[in-house]
Amino acid sequence: MLQFILNDEMINTDVAKGTTVLDFVRYHQHLRGTKIGCREGDCGACTVLVGELDGKNMRYQTMTCCLMPLANAHGKHIVTIEGINTSNLNPAQQAMVDEGGTQCGFCTVGFIVSMTGFCMEDEQATYDKAVASVDGNICRCTGYKSIERACGCMVKSLKNKNVNSPIDWLIKKGHLPAYFSTIAPRIKLIKKEKTVSTKNNIPVGGGTDLYVQRPEEMIDKAANHLFDSVKYKDIKSKGGYIYIGAEATATDILQAPLMQKHFPSLDEEMKLVSSTPIRNMGTIAGNFVNASPIGDLTIYFLALNSDVILERNGKERILALNKFYLGYKKLDKKPSDVVRWIRFKKPTKTQHYNFEKVCKRTYLDIASVNSAALITKKGNKITEAHISIGGVGPIPTYLFKTSAFLKEKAITPETVEQAHKILEKEISPISDARGSADYKRLLARQLFFAHFIDLFPAKFSLTSLLLTH
Ligand SMILES: Cc1cc2nc3c(=O)[nH]c(=O)nc-3n(C[C@H](O)[C@H](O)[C@H](O)COP(=O)(O)OP(=O)(O)OC[C@H]3O[C@@H](n4cnc5c(N)ncnc54)[C@H](O)[C@@H]3O)c2cc1C
Ligand code: FES
Ligand code: FES
Repeated sequence: MLQFILNDEMINTDVAKGTTVLDFVRYHQHLRGTKIGCREGDCGACTVLVGELDGKNMRYQTMTCCLMPLANAHGKHIVTIEGINTSNLNPAQQAMVDEGGTQCGFCTVGFIVSMTGFCMEDEQATYDKAVASVDGNICRCTGYKSIERACGCMVKSLKNKNVNSPIDWLIKKGHLPAYFSTIAPRIKLIKKEKTVSTKNNIPVGGGTDLYVQRPEEMIDKAANHLFDSVKYKDIKSKGGYIYIGAEATATDILQAPLMQKHFPSLDEEMKLVSSTPIRNMGTIAGNFVNASPIGDLTIYFLALNSDVILERNGKERILALNKFYLGYKKLDKKPSDVVRWIRFKKPTKTQHYNFEKVCKRTYLDIASVNSAALITKKGNKITEAHISIGGVGPIPTYLFKTSAFLKEKAITPETVEQAHKILEKEISPISDARGSADYKRLLARQLFFAHFIDLFPAKFSLTSLLLTH
C-alpha cells in the first residue's frame, strides 16, 4: 500500500506501483490540470512539485510526472497545479497574465509549477535563476521573452524572502495556500516502505530512461524501486576515494559540497545534463546501466577512472567503469546485479579535469559528442591521463590507447597532435540523427583540443593546435 499526500489530501492506494504519477492524478484522482504533452520528459506540461522531509522542513523539487513511478511518491508531498491555487492568482500566475506569458495555455500549468518550485528554494531569488528554473518547460505559442519577463516580475515579488523559513513567508505573501504549513508534521506520520529487493525484479531508479523506452510494460512489471534508498544517495569521502551512492541524482551531485570543492566547474557542467526536473529524477546508476554511448554522467565519471560497486546476493564486486561496457547496451553484469556505489580517487592539486559537450541546442538536449579528461601533471610533463568520449562508438568510450600514449609526455602542441592521431584510430562514429560520421570525428578532435586549451591556457590556443594539425 502506498501512502503520500496529494495536494492537501492523504492518499492510501494499492494502484500498481509502476503506474505513472501523471496517470494517477489525471485518471484516478480526476485532477486534469496537469497536462499530457510528450510523455517523454521533454515538454514539462506534466511538471509537479515533489516535497520531501529534509530534517524538520520540507524540500520541494520539480519532476515530470509522466516518467515518475507511483512507488517514488511514497512518503512524499505531490503538488499539482490544483494544490498551488490560492483564492486569487498567485504572483507567478499574475506575472504570466501581466506579461502575456500565456496563449493556448497548454504549457502554462507546467511553467507555473516550475516557477512556484523556484519560489520555494531556500536562497534569495535572482532573474537568471528564475529563468533557469523553467529550463524543462517548452512553449509552442507565446515565445519565451514574455515568459522571461514574467520570471523577472516574480523575482521582484520575492524581494527580502525569509530564506530560513521560505514556506511560511510564501504563505504570508499569497504565493502558496495555507495548508502547506501542515505538510511536514503529516509527512512524518507516514511509515517508510521497507525496500525488499527480489532477485528477478528490474531495478528502477528515477524512471527517466525506462519510462521513455517501455512505458506500458513498466506499469505491472515486477520492480525493485531503489530511488528512495537513503543509504545509496550519500556522497562521501572515505579512504582516499569519493563515493557516490547509486541513487544520487544529477542534482544531488551538482549540489554536493564535496563535489563542488573538487570540481570548480561542476555547476556549469552538470547544467548541460538534461533539464532541472530530469536532473532531479535521473540517477547516476540509471545513467551508467542505460549504457547510452552518449550518457553524460558515464562520460564524466569514466575520465575520473571510476569504479562501479555492484551487489549480487548480498556480495559486493568492484569493477573498473571502463571494463563495464562489453558492446552496444551489453554490460558486464547480470540483470539482477544492483549498482550500489560509484567511487573514484579524490582528485589532487596536480590533477586537472575538464568536461565538454556539444549538442544541437545547448540545454535540454542529448550530446552529439561529449568528452572528459583528467590530466595529472608534474612540471611540464603529463604523469597520468584518462580521456573519455561519447557518441563516437557503440559504447561510452574510454580511450585506452590515447590515455596511455599521453603518459610521461611533455605538454606541447606536438604531443596533443600525436595523441589525436591515436584517438582517430580508437573511435568509430556512425552517421545518425545527431550528425554525420565525419562531423562527429571533427567534434571529437575539437573537444580533445578543447580539454588542453581549457586546462592549460598558457600553453595552448586553438590557433597553436590548429597550426600543428
Ligand atoms: C527529457 C530527457 C532528457 C535527458 N537528457 C539527458 C542528458 O542530457 N544526458 C544524459 O546523460 N541523459 C539524459 N537523459 C537520460 C536519463 O535521464 C539519464 O540516463 C538518467 O541518469 C537515468 O537515470 P534513472 O534513474 O532515471 O534511470 P531508470 O530509468 O530508472 O533506469 C535506467 C536503467 O538503469 C537500470 N538501473 C537503475 N538503477 C539501477 C541500479 N541501482 N542498479 C542496476 N541497474 C539500475 C534500470 O533497470 C534501467 O535499465 C534524459 C532523459 C530524458 C527523459
Ligand atoms: S508530458 Fe511532456 S514532460 Fe511529461
Ligand atoms: S501558451 Fe500554448 S504552448 Fe505555451
